[in-house]
Amino acid sequence: MNICIIVFSPSGHTLQAAEMIKAAMEEQAMQVQLLNITGQKEVFKNNNLRGFLLENVNRHDVLCVGGPVYAGHLEGNARKVIKTLPDPDEHWGKLAIPFITYGGLHSSVSLQEAGALFHAGRRINIMGVKMASFHSLSQNLLPYKINEGKPGSEEEIVAREMARRLKQLSSQCKWDDVRRSFGYASLLHKVVLKFLDQDYFHGKYRTVRANPEVCNGCGICQKFCPVNLIEIVGQKAVRVDNGSYCLLCAECYHHCPRNAVVHDFVEQKITKKLNDEKDKYHEIPQSAVYPIVSL
Ligand SMILES: Cc1cc2nc3c(=O)[nH]c(=O)nc-3n(C[C@H](O)[C@H](O)[C@H](O)COP(=O)(O)O)c2cc1C
Ligand code: SF4
Ligand code: SF4
Repeated sequence: MNICIIVFSPSGHTLQAAEMIKAAMEEQAMQVQLLNITGQKEVFKNNNLRGFLLENVNRHDVLCVGGPVYAGHLEGNARKVIKTLPDPDEHWGKLAIPFITYGGLHSSVSLQEAGALFHAGRRINIMGVKMASFHSLSQNLLPYKINEGKPGSEEEIVAREMARRLKQLSSQCKWDDVRRSFGYASLLHKVVLKFLDQDYFHGKYRTVRANPEVCNGCGICQKFCPVNLIEIVGQKAVRVDNGSYCLLCAECYHHCPRNAVVHDFVEQKITKKLNDEKDKYHEIPQSAVYPIVSL
């Protein structure tokens, strides 16, 4: 069985999850291609996601697409991957597995959204996977960060369960669409997030910039920006307009050795919110394969 895993991973945790999934599938003697679109110039600088996918995705039976949860939604670039896929045919598999990573607080409607997009693209959601990971915006929290070290051993078990289940389904040739099992968010989240998208929560903070008084043009932020929004012009980091939007992922902010990046969302909003609310939300189960099967 041939599997293709496509992943978008601004801070690297969804990529770690994808690597766990790949390893677990290879243990089950499956052939796995892992394609990471993060920071790919063809995708973000040249705005050519479709061309990139057409050129790089090998023939497969099952397609897994993974991305992080941002503001309770599947992050927009992972959504775009699913929406951009060609229709299923001899090359492009009809069987789909969406997977998400989240900071353990609330993955809300993200898996459900991924399942709905696959369904709209005439694919069958044969299972869905949720993995808790380090909350990439919790780096400044004191006294502890959220979910440090995740995805870890519990998520490895989930990856193995996913691979085991895929093997079992394939031996039975049993391909039911199970996307209804992805609708585990509370009714409140479902209603609120139906109307309030990622941009509603983040739009006004997309003003991340380097302070030219402090920046020395070292270029580290440029290397870490997952959507290629930063260039060095005249020894200073500047934001360019390449058709992508700033994710607020804070990779530039956390990696800048001179603290030159101004990130209002981290500095004024989210650190306080996470500190206040980190005990309030704790989704259970933290990591799982859907539908959940009682043992
Ligand atoms: C802008 C932003 C918004 C986020 N929103 C949520 C959220 O709503 N719920 C949650 O549990 N985690 C949230 N997270 C945490 C990420 O989903 C989590 O760290 C994820 O594993 C990051 O994946 P990556 O390392 O592949 O980028 C958010 C992170 C960022 C940067
Ligand atoms: S990492 Fe910091 S100092 Fe280096 S170019 Fe970027 S903003 Fe400037
Ligand atoms: S500019 Fe910074 S916060 Fe915005 S997407 Fe790039 S690395 Fe992330």
